Amino acid sequence: MGRKSTERAGARMDELGALIRHHDERYHTLDDPEIPDADFDALVVELRDLEAAHPGLVAADSPTHRVGSGASNTFAEVEHGSPMRSLDNAFDMDELRAWDERVGRRLGGAPSAWVCELKFDGLAVSIRYEDGRLVQAATRGDGRFGEDVTANVRTIGDVPHSLGPGAPAVLEVRGEVYMSKSAFDELNRVQEAAGGKAYVNPRNTAAGSLRQKSATVTATRDLSFWAYQVGEVVGGPELAGHHDTLAWLADLGLPVNDGVVRLTDFDEVVAHVGVVGAARHDLDYEIDGVVVKVDDLALQEALGSTARAPRWAIAYKLPPEERTTRLLGIDVSIGPGGQATPFARLEPVFVGGSTVAVATLHNADQVVRKDVRPGDVVVVRKAGDVIPEVVGPVLSERPDGLATWPFPTECPECGEALVRSEGEAATFCVNHACPRQVRGRIEHFASRGAMDIEGFGEQRVDLFVTEGLLVDVADVYSLDLDRVSGFEGFGEVSVRNLGEAIDRSRQRPLGRLLFGLRIPHVGTTVADQVASAFGHLGRLEAATVHDLEAVEGLGPVIAASVHGWLRDGGNRDVLARLRSAGLNLEAGGSQQTEQVLAGMSIVVTGTLAGMGRDEARAAIAALGGRSPGSVSAKTTAVVAGDGAGSKLARAEELGIPVLDEAAFGRLLATGELAGRPDLPG
Ligand code: IVH
Repeated sequence: MGRKSTERAGARMDELGALIRHHDERYHTLDDPEIPDADFDALVVELRDLEAAHPGLVAADSPTHRVGSGASNTFAEVEHGSPMRSLDNAFDMDELRAWDERVGRRLGGAPSAWVCELKFDGLAVSIRYEDGRLVQAATRGDGRFGEDVTANVRTIGDVPHSLGPGAPAVLEVRGEVYMSKSAFDELNRVQEAAGGKAYVNPRNTAAGSLRQKSATVTATRDLSFWAYQVGEVVGGPELAGHHDTLAWLADLGLPVNDGVVRLTDFDEVVAHVGVVGAARHDLDYEIDGVVVKVDDLALQEALGSTARAPRWAIAYKLPPEERTTRLLGIDVSIGPGGQATPFARLEPVFVGGSTVAVATLHNADQVVRKDVRPGDVVVVRKAGDVIPEVVGPVLSERPDGLATWPFPTECPECGEALVRSEGEAATFCVNHACPRQVRGRIEHFASRGAMDIEGFGEQRVDLFVTEGLLVDVADVYSLDLDRVSGFEGFGEVSVRNLGEAIDRSRQRPLGRLLFGLRIPHVGTTVADQVASAFGHLGRLEAATVHDLEAVEGLGPVIAASVHGWLRDGGNRDVLARLRSAGLNLEAGGSQQTEQVLAGMSIVVTGTLAGMGRDEARAAIAALGGRSPGSVSAKTTAVVAGDGAGSKLARAEELGIPVLDEAAFGRLLATGELAGRPDLPG
């Protein structure tokens, strides 16, 4: 290796050492990390690799030798009876198998069982019981010395103050303090209602809550605890395995997670890790991996530990859900209802299992609140099916003098002014004729859950609007089919089919028509409730706000919205033209849609090629089915499009039928859960 490249490696190792120390302190001592865990891990991996390639350059105080940062001076120091080590990581299945092979080589044969546990994303604590009574609790600190957080840990409901019968003379139990997702959401709800700054994520909030000077403050935070390991034990039963140890801890009244499994074949371990990854979002707490431990305690002893981590355990890290990247710019997209939503254009980054290049910024206030500026390095988060979002900037990396981003004053689609009403979070393009909105209204009107006009997809609507054939939804019924037949790709049959589909839609019941009109706040359920309450469009038009408020499920906001919409001059004109086009205006409809999905619960997940997820849900509702957001034992079937993740895995786990798009089409048409076509033989 040349001198130049060795020098370069040495310089980079120094730089990485400094960066790791800085971020380690932000994370462990200050509870205020600047970068996501995955970025931190990447720095450590890079330094380890360089150290392996250049052993002569390894600094005596390299952070790869240490665990966490030292204790802060807010709490008294506690020396751990035995070191609280960290875990080595495996970032893919090959690394996981490589660990297993290393273990096998050291032992001269494979272990007979492994215990897989969830890797909880919180902070490690050690809790000491003497004669069954909680006497001390400490954070991990640097692994040797932690902080005395006894008073704070006593406020955690999950942590027993005394153990059940059979408690040993001394038991030091180690585990993770964490905040559940629901407790975190609730805390943020209260915080935001009080006008405070939102907490960023459950892990940091749990760490900050536990390390409050006053235990009274900790007591107001809904923290939880999982026990996963023992430290010093004096007395108690002779235990040969880790799995039995956890069972014993549970018997003593300590909270042990029910996701613990003991497996006897390493292929099963690999498969299990995959299953946990797919189901991580179904849990009410955050995990960032799976910890695999050799079960046999004698083998653990034989394997021993390095200064940093035991050799008998490994943390398989799940793909990160937060990463940093550069914010290239902020643009605004106009939704079908005219809503102007700012979104971030990002340097592409792999996060949450896919490459992300755009992420939502929600609205003008969020951009200000998060203080993200084009040119910033930002934290991007993508968890499962959730739309990627920008969490915030990494302020330490902000270039000097970076300008804030002004929300545009004009609609990027039509150039008209954007309007934000007093007290509203959203900004709108209020130009009714904005081409984006016209297309959006017509696409929605023709969609399956509304007027269900086959052959009226996004591309065709776009074409008809661009060609000036459609300006509003009523134009659908006077569509010039002669002109359509002149367009490329429209043969005689497809034009005839289109005409017939339009004709058929005239018979759709009032509920579907109301849903199709995109009245603000009126989804499928409200549309059906209004339709069945009034029975006929004429009666609905004559209704007062008071009459509307009397409909079950309608509050004053929806009632006012429906009433106002029906009184708007432009809307009245559209309704008049729909009337003269011969639409059915009755709730029942002359061909009331048969409720073929009545009693069924169909979950839609992933991206379908032929229809949006909302549209699919509306179609299910229109046929009498329900479409909840999560899979349970009560789910009838799961419709899985591209990129389906945890919900698909859950369905497979529960043995619930999974439908592709074609099978979903058949289900909508017939109400039958068509199996796979019979295979020959
Ligand atoms: S065992 C000596 N089990 O992960 C082994 N750790 O990255 C000690 N963690 O410091 C750790 N879930 O804070 C273990 N089921 C689990 C865990 C777990 C989360 C944390 C713990 C540890 C860190 C290492």
